[in-house]
Amino acid sequence: MAKKAFIFDLDGVIVDTAKYHYLAWKKIADTLGINFTHEHNELLKGVSRVRSLDIILDLGKFDASQEDKDKWLVQKNEEYLSYLVDMDESEILPGVFPILKYLKEKQQPIALGSASKNARPILEKTGIMSYFDAIVDGNDVSNAKPDPEVFLIAAQKLGFTPEESIVFEDSIAGVQAANIAKMLSIGIGDDTTLHEAKYVFQDFTHIDTHFIDTIINKRVN
Ligand code: BG6
Ligand code: MG
Repeated sequence: MAKKAFIFDLDGVIVDTAKYHYLAWKKIADTLGINFTHEHNELLKGVSRVRSLDIILDLGKFDASQEDKDKWLVQKNEEYLSYLVDMDESEILPGVFPILKYLKEKQQPIALGSASKNARPILEKTGIMSYFDAIVDGNDVSNAKPDPEVFLIAAQKLGFTPEESIVFEDSIAGVQAANIAKMLSIGIGDDTTLHEAKYVFQDFTHIDTHFIDTIINKRVN
C-alpha cells in the first residue's frame, strides 16, 4: 500500500489558537502603544515567540532591553495560556477529525510540525495526541519557519523523504518552509495570503477523501 508522511501544523490548522496568540500579542502591543492589526498578525503566524515580539517591536520602531523583552515574552505566554485553560476537543477545527481518522484508517503516518512550545498540552487537552506517530514542536528546533528544520525532523522521525511528505499549513512562513523542504505544501486558509502553497483549501471540510487518495498514490521520483 502506498504511503506518504502527513505533517500537520498545529495553531490555525488543527485548533483555532491563532486567535488567542493574536489577542495575547495585542495586549502587549496595546500596553506599549504599538498599533497591531489582524494584517500585521499574518506575519506572526508560524513564527517563534521570540521572533514575533521582535516583529511587533519593529512595527512600533520600539527599542527595548533584553530584560524588558524577556518580561513581555513571559507576560504574553501567561495571557495566551489563560485562554487555553478550558480548552477541549470542541476547539478542533471543522473537518480535521474526519481527515485524521481517514489517514489512520489508511495507515498513513502522521506527524505534528509546530513552532509552538505549548503544542503537547494542547494535543492532550483536545484529546488527539494518539493520532500522532511523531511530534516535533518549538522545543525541538533551533531554526524557526520559514526554515524547514521542523518539517525535515518530522519527516525523518516518520522515516520518509521530504518528497514523500505533505504539509498542512495556515501560515506564509510555514508554506515557505514546506516548499524549501521540497515537500507538498497544502495551505489552509485564504488563497491570496497562501498563494505560494501547491494547493489551498479554506478549511478541512473542503478536503475530500478522493483528494487524500490522490496524494497518497502520487508517484514520487
Ligand atoms: C506557532 C504560531 O504555531 O507557534 C505562532 O503560529 C506562535 O503564532 C508560535 O508564535 C510559538 O508558539 P508558543 O506557543 O511557543 O508561543
Ligand atoms: Mg499555524
